Amino acid sequence: MNIIMLHGGARKKGNTATAAGWVKDELSSLGHQVESIDLFDKDIKGCLACGKCKETPDKVGCVQKDDAVDIMDKMVASDLVLFTSPLYFWGLAGPLKTFIDRTYSLYLDYHQPTHASLVEGQRQALLVTGAGPYENNAEPVFFAFNRLQAPHKAVRAGELYLGKCSSPDDMDVATKEQVLAFAREIVS
Ligand SMILES: Cc1cc2nc3c(=O)[nH]c(=O)nc-3n(C[C@H](O)[C@H](O)[C@H](O)COP(=O)(O)O)c2cc1C
Repeated sequence: MNIIMLHGGARKKGNTATAAGWVKDELSSLGHQVESIDLFDKDIKGCLACGKCKETPDKVGCVQKDDAVDIMDKMVASDLVLFTSPLYFWGLAGPLKTFIDRTYSLYLDYHQPTHASLVEGQRQALLVTGAGPYENNAEPVFFAFNRLQAPHKAVRAGELYLGKCSSPDDMDVATKEQVLAFAREIVS
């Protein structure tokens, strides 16, 4: 599969990056083509909600010419997208949330019989790390993610929350096994 990993966090050696690195290595060892992009380093402006993108249904037609357009083109060419993020105030880190808002350009006519999407049938997965537990903390980020596949006409391939994270050095063997199992799950 062609796989793109889109990272929302800033810390290149943080908890999320460590887990994402394990996923990437596992997917690569299974023979998949994996590209990894740090959204924090990119120029990604917020969605203007101008609706101009709906006038070009056959391509990513956003009027803003920043890095989001190239990344969306890569996303369209991918069989699987893995979004990764630290949990920030019960949601995604800003760069990833801002990018996902821009994916408004990928579909049109949501809720209409003419609903169409440039990523129809694509597999999408989410990996999040947080300091707290899942309960009463991480639910909102997965709730929102599970809604995203409807407008995108995509398929939810899996989700993983690694809670009670302190430092990458404290991520144990059991956690790594959980992450590797997740990697295998999202491509099967
Ligand atoms: C701005 C900010 C907001 C955070 N909000 C939450 C939160 O709502 N719930 C939680 O469990 N952890 C929260 N955390 C902790 C991080 O999600 C957690 O430490 C995460 O594993 C950091 O990932 P990283 O090492 O990849 O940056 C927050 C941290 C920051 C800096």
